[in-house]
Amino acid sequence: MSLQSNLIASVFLFGTALNAEQAIEKFTLSPSILEIQGDLAYGEYLASDCQTCHRADNSNQGIPGINGREITEIVYALHEYKNKYRKNQVMQMMAGGLGDEEIAALASYFASLQ
Ligand code: HEC
Repeated sequence: MSLQSNLIASVFLFGTALNAEQAIEKFTLSPSILEIQGDLAYGEYLASDCQTCHRADNSNQGIPGINGREITEIVYALHEYKNKYRKNQVMQMMAGGLGDEEIAALASYFASLQ
């Protein structure tokens, strides 16, 4: 095999292994994280950092509105970004700076909005 075809083969094999790993691993959160009762007022305070992008009127102009989603859905999404299970870099950075209590507070607040 030439050097070039060796390279192509290893890139192909590496790519396949990564895909297989992603397909098997499912992201799960422990009950202790899901049971945290988010503080609404704290969530409202933190949300101003989010609403420059996630518009308060919930309109989607390239960025999804997140008002009124299920608490669990928002909690999962933020932990998935934080753990780089979801790929978006901006959200990985935003969620990376949040602790479990802050995520719970934000989820309670956004879930309470229409
Ligand atoms: C700079 C813009 C920006 C900021 C600030 C921002 N987001 Fe996002 N957010 C995005 C984009 C873009 C997406 C869609 C990413 C994707 O495709 O995965 C997203 C996705 C999400 C999702 C998943 C929505 C879905 O439909 O799956 C949640 C939940 C979320 N953001 C919550 C937040 C919270 C909470 C904050 C504040 C801590 C925040 N975001 C701050 C741009 C932003």
